[in-house]
Amino acid sequence: MWSFHKWFERHSLILVVGILVVVSIGGLVQITPLFFIESTIERVEGVRPYTPLELAGRQVYIREGCYLCHSQMVRPLRDEVERYGHYSLAAESMYDHPFQWGSKRTGPDLARVGGRYSDEWHRAHLVNPRSVVPESVMPPYAFLANRDVNPDVIQAHVRTNRILRVPYTDDQLASAAIDERAQAEPTGSNAYDFSQRYPGAAVRDFDGNPDRVTEMDALIAYLQMLGAGVNFDTYQAEAPENQR
Ligand code: HEC
Repeated sequence: MWSFHKWFERHSLILVVGILVVVSIGGLVQITPLFFIESTIERVEGVRPYTPLELAGRQVYIREGCYLCHSQMVRPLRDEVERYGHYSLAAESMYDHPFQWGSKRTGPDLARVGGRYSDEWHRAHLVNPRSVVPESVMPPYAFLANRDVNPDVIQAHVRTNRILRVPYTDDQLASAAIDERAQAEPTGSNAYDFSQRYPGAAVRDFDGNPDRVTEMDALIAYLQMLGAGVNFDTYQAEAPENQR
């Protein structure tokens, strides 16, 4: 056996071929499952694609680097589950491109922050975190309330997500810019159509300024739906094998 090895070491070309064979076996083991990833994520009731306004808010979240201080993944450890709620499911980030799991927690995990606070709280907190949490080291983001969402980019953004296999319909794609505004204008003429296209999505004025649809609207709409989709009482009841 060792003389066989000597043969490899004496002929550099054969050694290279041998290395390629070994490395490609390792590569195949890692890469092949990715082609079947669709079937590895279980479908979970309540997980839906982002609305255009939430998608815009998510973009603000990424642009402002919120992920540098906040993770969005509750790990299945007792202290995390007791603090944040049910551990994160793979399906909950299936429409996240890119996912926001994060690796740094200067602030708390945000995977289940949706519905935990009122819109007013988020507004006050984003304008000046110290006004609601005196010891906070989070920077203020007051300027978001003065920046309108950009209706010119949202359709391209939805289209890009569709290329990445987020199941937006043609109707949802065509109405992206209208829907982006409609979600923050509950008395507007497009609110009903919006609700038909995105059943269950909240329609309200998130930033407290009914005259404008701002990045503050978008970011709060996004924060308020994080982790709020799945009903974990029924999730466990329907699938007892998920109980741990
Ligand atoms: C420098 C680090 C840092 C950055 C950047 C940061 N945060 Fe925070 N965040 C914190 C800290 C620390 C806390 C805990 C104290 C507090 O509530 O203000 C916090 C708390 C929060 C909370 C309340 C969470 C809870 O469960 O109580 C929300 C929501 C939040 N941040 C959202 C954001 C958003 C959105 C952004 C980006 C626009 C952002 N943060 C950027 C550090 C940061």
